[in-house]
Amino acid sequence: MGCYNHRYQLHKTTTNSNMSRAGRPPFLFLLLLLFMCLLMLSPLCGCHPQSPASIRSTLRTESNHTARGGSTTAAEVAGYADVAKQIIDLAVFGAAQNRSYTRLARFTDTIGNRVSGSHSLEMAIKYMYNAMAQEGLDVHLEPVKIPHWVRGKESAEMIAPRAESLAMLGLGGSVGTPPEGIEAEVLVVQSFAELKHRASEAMAKIVVFNQPFVSYGETVAYRANGASEAAKVGAVATLIRSITPFSINSPHTGLQYYQDGVKRIPSACITVEDAELMWRMAQKGQRIVVRLTMAAKTLPDADSFNTVAEIRGWQHPEQVVLLSGHLDSWDVGQGAMDDGGGVMISWEVLSLIKDLGLRPRRTLRTVLWTAEEQGGVGARQYYDQHKVNMSNFDLVMESDLGTFTPLALQFTGSDAAQKKWSNFWLPLIRPNWRHTEKGQTSHRGCRQEYQEPACMWQTVDIFGSTTAKVIP
Ligand SMILES: *[C@@H]1O[C@H](CO)[C@@H](O)[C@H](O)[C@H]1NC(C)=O
Ligand SMILES: *[C@@H]1O[C@H](CO)[C@@H](O)[C@H](O)[C@H]1NC(C)=O
Ligand SMILES: *[C@@H]1O[C@H](CO)[C@@H](O)[C@H](O)[C@H]1NC(C)=O
Ligand SMILES: [Zn+2]
Repeated sequence: MGCYNHRYQLHKTTTNSNMSRAGRPPFLFLLLLLFMCLLMLSPLCGCHPQSPASIRSTLRTESNHTARGGSTTAAEVAGYADVAKQIIDLAVFGAAQNRSYTRLARFTDTIGNRVSGSHSLEMAIKYMYNAMAQEGLDVHLEPVKIPHWVRGKESAEMIAPRAESLAMLGLGGSVGTPPEGIEAEVLVVQSFAELKHRASEAMAKIVVFNQPFVSYGETVAYRANGASEAAKVGAVATLIRSITPFSINSPHTGLQYYQDGVKRIPSACITVEDAELMWRMAQKGQRIVVRLTMAAKTLPDADSFNTVAEIRGWQHPEQVVLLSGHLDSWDVGQGAMDDGGGVMISWEVLSLIKDLGLRPRRTLRTVLWTAEEQGGVGARQYYDQHKVNMSNFDLVMESDLGTFTPLALQFTGSDAAQKKWSNFWLPLIRPNWRHTEKGQTSHRGCRQEYQEPACMWQTVDIFGSTTAKVIP
């Protein structure tokens, strides 16, 4: 999930190979979702260094208590240039150089994937709780009831016009088929409009959606709503082309929704290649028959937790800069990119602050959401339970679109807040950032690409938690 207003959106898809580098699309980037709550903060002095003299000497201990204008914010933010540089040096070149990557590899290799309701998600929460507590962070768990969907054994085969097994992944929340499967003729369509137009042909068929990929945000509607739209015109199951611009015969899973009052039919994703194959066959007038077998089922809700770790603010402990990733994943692959990476950089922020002996003005809180893939369940509950204090949340961040070299920050907030970001904060990161590019070209690799987002995440957060008046 991103910000709270993003919580009903579907999540990006997951493939079986999300730890591997081979299948990654060309546009990988770190997208930081920012939600800024409106709050005027009392302007006071900056970061509160706990120990190292070297750090202390770089921090501004005085600031302009009276001024309100942007130029003062600029000056104050600029005063953190040295701190930003130290964070970047520690994370990218220093002792913490490979830490978040190493943590990610250990975590995902030990736990593996961790779908909502599973034993491995429980293990993941224990793992992270213990790891962060051992480091001396202030950690607690907040209980959440979460969905428990299990995939079970599943398969799809084309029977006519020729036999071929189809790579597939059932969609999260889907009902299963009868044990013997569903064997039916296929109707291939390329859009919801075409399905409507050909509604009379859909009865008792398996509808294959071969929608072209436009963008994740737009095309995901087929995965989300395909089953209900097909059921409305009498289909018995749906196979949906995976929501991706890139495929090496790799089906992607993800969440789908059943509309109220519409028959629930089994729904799975197939590969881009197979969707196009069936489309071509249908264009030639060939009769296509597929057998779909899915043992998927939904069990009663399970007990789980959001995992919360924090460094309390020295001046305004009740005010919070929240950074987050989600600990659950889908039940395929290792959940390294989605969202182990976001989890680890959110933890790393606290580690770096601790290492540097810094103490922020406001509480810096890392939340590892549970059951995000099931529709932001953990985050929604967190919001509901903490909304009474919403005005104390200055900045809420989530990293959840892959963790590589940072390219952009996505921002939601007031225009005034956005101006402050682009005018004052980001320029402070950029010049310090530049020198990391050397490292990228000389020994570019997963680790190098990975530690940069950790460090950017950190640098942004420290501004959020230390500057006197972060948000207009
Ligand atoms: C405080 O801000 C005001 C208005 O921007 C400025 O005139 C003044 O010089 C500043 N004082 C200090 C100590 O920076
Ligand atoms: C981080 O990993 C790189 C590549 O393996 C290695 O050269 C470097 O020494 C490591 N840094 C630290 C601090 O361990
Ligand atoms: C709201 O904030 C107050 C003051 O910091 C705190 O005591 C209380 O526990 C918070 N409530 C919730 C639900 O977070
Ligand atoms: Zn995610």
